[in-house]
Amino acid sequence: MFRWPTELQQLPEAIWQRLSNACGDITDPLRLPALATVSGVAPAIRTVVLRNADSSQRTLTFFSDSRAQKIAELAANPQIAFLFFDPRDQTQIRASGVATIHRMDAVSVSEWNQLPDSSRLNYSTEMAPGTPIPTPDQNPTDTSGCAHFAVVIANIHHIEWLQLSSPFHHRAEVVFESGQWRGRWIAP
Ligand SMILES: Cc1cc2nc3c(=O)[nH]c(=O)nc-3n(C[C@H](O)[C@H](O)[C@H](O)COP(=O)(O)O)c2cc1C
Repeated sequence: MFRWPTELQQLPEAIWQRLSNACGDITDPLRLPALATVSGVAPAIRTVVLRNADSSQRTLTFFSDSRAQKIAELAANPQIAFLFFDPRDQTQIRASGVATIHRMDAVSVSEWNQLPDSSRLNYSTEMAPGTPIPTPDQNPTDTSGCAHFAVVIANIHHIEWLQLSSPFHHRAEVVFESGQWRGRWIAP
């Protein structure tokens, strides 16, 4: 089990380390965050696979189909939030920031080139995500390569960490300002 620091100064690095670990472990609950966007004036939320957590760039990355509703929402409003929860140690992490969408550029092509064919299929359907189809299995493969593949890189500026434990729950807010992460304990 991950050992969370008791010192506030060590918390930002530990959070990034924990998220980075999750990307490489398909059994890790933090690999599947809920991702929130703004859809008009309403919230929209869904599960994604966390592909990368880069502490030096302060970025979280996921992949999507560029025709997905979430991509349209992020194009209209790049504000983004991730919710992570690990039931094994009762830890919740909320991270928010601003997203950049990469499609048919050096970033997306580089990621596409590293994807196995089985994963490429997820971004190669003929019908766009959300299109009504007559039967559940009916969506043949498109042949347009990575045309519909999107890489979303979120620049994170605010993180909130909460761990439920006995006798006290612990909660901290971590904000990136003036070139560094600053943390403070807050009431759970
Ligand atoms: C376990 C799991 C992992 C998923 N991973 C992704 C992902 O990495 N990227 C993605 O676009 N959708 C992913 N999805 C599908 C989304 O949750 C969502 O249903 C779909 O993308 C449509 O969302 P949207 O209409 O808001 O764009 C995943 C779903 C599940 C259940």
